[in-house]
Amino acid sequence: MLATLREVLAPAEAQGRGVGAFNVIQLEHAEALVAAAERTGLPVVLQVSENAVRYHGSLAPVAAATRVLAEAAAVPVVLHLDHAVSEPLVDEALALGFTSVMFDGSTLDDVANHERTRAVVERCHAAGVSVEAELGEIGGKDGVHAPGVRTDPAEAAHFVADTGVDALAVAVGSSHAMTERTAALDLVLVTRIRAQVAVPLVLHGSSGVPDADLVAAVRAGMTKVNIATHLNKVFTEAVRGWLEEHPGGVDTRGYLGAGRSALEDEAARLLELLALR
Ligand code: G3H
Ligand code: ZN
Repeated sequence: MLATLREVLAPAEAQGRGVGAFNVIQLEHAEALVAAAERTGLPVVLQVSENAVRYHGSLAPVAAATRVLAEAAAVPVVLHLDHAVSEPLVDEALALGFTSVMFDGSTLDDVANHERTRAVVERCHAAGVSVEAELGEIGGKDGVHAPGVRTDPAEAAHFVADTGVDALAVAVGSSHAMTERTAALDLVLVTRIRAQVAVPLVLHGSSGVPDADLVAAVRAGMTKVNIATHLNKVFTEAVRGWLEEHPGGVDTRGYLGAGRSALEDEAARLLELLALR
């Protein structure tokens, strides 16, 4: 069933559990991720990023397919627009039935980030849609989510109070698009931000974070954990393996099916890992 980000994160935060937020690019991603959530009985956030929209050339087709799968799911599924910089794209997502939006004003100057985020929150909340925002940049894409960038707890608390966002992405040592799991998180900073910020916290660029540190990050106060590159790596390795085993294979269902099934297994494992207390 479709759920808002707030509906999924509030109970998870209260119980000290993490929620997996995984990116959808192909239809097979959405199918695998919903199957993983159903298999584990856990909620999931399905994210379509502005980059994925650029790849497809439009938001509507990938959104419609993902939404149908989310609606039919036996567990809560959030349909989330990820890293939106374009406000018209946010408005389109509202019209398409997204239940959550990340407005990424992290590259704007501070005043503009506050102003634009506040305006997005107003429109989204009027439509019953949750908003995640980001303060500064998180390496990789990357300002705030760069390995050296850190979110200031007091600034974060002020930003949340001033904008009314439902969740906040913070920079604590992770970096986007890492293909090795070697990132070192600043868990003390997570604890300090957690103590001051009134909404659930979001860890971006979690592909570079090893299993044990993902669990530690949730224990320290992270609730939404965004993982994309690692799952694409698993998908692609399975596709590559299938193609090597079937050099004459031409049916796209052969290799995409192998990717989908590997993705489902790894997403289910991660959902369970993050939900550990
Ligand atoms: O917003 C999505 C992410 O932060 C995923 O980052 O590809 O490094 O896991 P990742
Ligand atoms: Zn991100």
